[in-house]
Amino acid sequence: DAAGTRNFSLVAQAGTTTFRSGVAAATLGYNGQLLGPALRLRKGENVAMHVQNNLGEDTTVHWHGLLVPAEADGGPHQVIAAGARWTASFTVANAASTCWFHPHAHGSTGRQVVMGLAGLLIVDDAQMARSTLPDTWGVDDLALVLQDKRFTAAGQIDYTLSASDRTNGYTGDVLLVNGALAPVWRAPSQWVRFRLLNGCNARALVLRLGNSLPLLQVANEAGLLAVPVARPSLALGPGERAEVLVDFSAMPAGQEVPLYASTAQGGMGMGNAAGATEVEAMRIRVSLPKQSNSISSPPNTLPAAAAVVAGPGAINRTFRLDGGMMGGAFTINGRSFDIGRIDFSVPANSVEVWTFTNATNMAHPMHVHGVKMSMLTRAALAPPIYEQGLRDTFVVEAMQTVRVAVQTAEVASATPLMFHCHILEHEDAGMMGQFTTL
Ligand code: C2O
Ligand code: CU
Ligand code: CU
Repeated sequence: DAAGTRNFSLVAQAGTTTFRSGVAAATLGYNGQLLGPALRLRKGENVAMHVQNNLGEDTTVHWHGLLVPAEADGGPHQVIAAGARWTASFTVANAASTCWFHPHAHGSTGRQVVMGLAGLLIVDDAQMARSTLPDTWGVDDLALVLQDKRFTAAGQIDYTLSASDRTNGYTGDVLLVNGALAPVWRAPSQWVRFRLLNGCNARALVLRLGNSLPLLQVANEAGLLAVPVARPSLALGPGERAEVLVDFSAMPAGQEVPLYASTAQGGMGMGNAAGATEVEAMRIRVSLPKQSNSISSPPNTLPAAAAVVAGPGAINRTFRLDGGMMGGAFTINGRSFDIGRIDFSVPANSVEVWTFTNATNMAHPMHVHGVKMSMLTRAALAPPIYEQGLRDTFVVEAMQTVRVAVQTAEVASATPLMFHCHILEHEDAGMMGQFTTL
């Protein structure tokens, strides 16, 4: 019923952004010049997302991580032509989590994201409210969209792809935080929550704080972990998210804590091998008093959603990640994406085991639309706690095998859902397939 539906409006449009003083760079944004709003959704509510495409070219808006009907997913089949309007209506089914939205028109995803199209979807639920995590938006709950970009000598965003970019994915030489270069955020001297999104097209990021402050991870892509895990540093592949708590209460007033991001090759080796340096992404200046609603200590356990469990008879489906040799495209089971080909079908409301074997010499962050997923094994071992909990994106390292339990939506649909590498140049070049839930 319309009265029980909350409406959101997004206008995809061209604008300009000043990254370097004196230069207005052409950018794209939702409802603004660059990036988009953070849309706050509540589990169980009905929403209607109205999207107006003022880009002058095709686009789509995909709700990355949201469990929505396939027709509302915003993948390559839900193209919004230039000048057209599209409405996605759905009931928010996810547990509390940090998701995001971005374009997904096949072949132009990478460029449209680099030009600025991406926004956050913050899902709240009653369980999260009871778990007493910091949640005063912008005060003790800060979302960071991390994205690298490359600029021309004239200061415009450069999305020309070299042969190396086509193989490794687009990498920039500048890391932006919420569209800004090296911003400073004023934090209260207390426990603070950061919602981290690796919104890079291709770079894996390893994040750590200065002053040896640990990151207490409480959530990954699709919701809370069972227990908080203290991490000296944290790696995020493209498309992955994490939520962490940090205790600034012992910092002297005025202390500045850098957030460092390293794009080093190694365990998470993606992107440009030359980018093996650590950059200061931003600074946190601890200069505000402790807020009255500050948490005094983090919870010991968290109300994590139940993992997806595959029964002993579950169907096992295998995905071999291949290609990339001699500048050729990467493939899944030897095939490139064909929008007219359904690769397979999984009945609605069923659980399968999906085994991803990476036969290439680089990592691929794999993402599946419209399913609940839990990791079963990485390199034949049980995953660490911070990789447990529900996922929608997970990195498969070079020459590695990762197994996940996948649960399809309750309602069957003939509209295809995507599974793909979230290195957007791999996806645009066809490292993607599609399935239905008939
Ligand atoms: Cu974040 Cu299929 O995408
Ligand atoms: Cu997605
Ligand atoms: Cu890939």
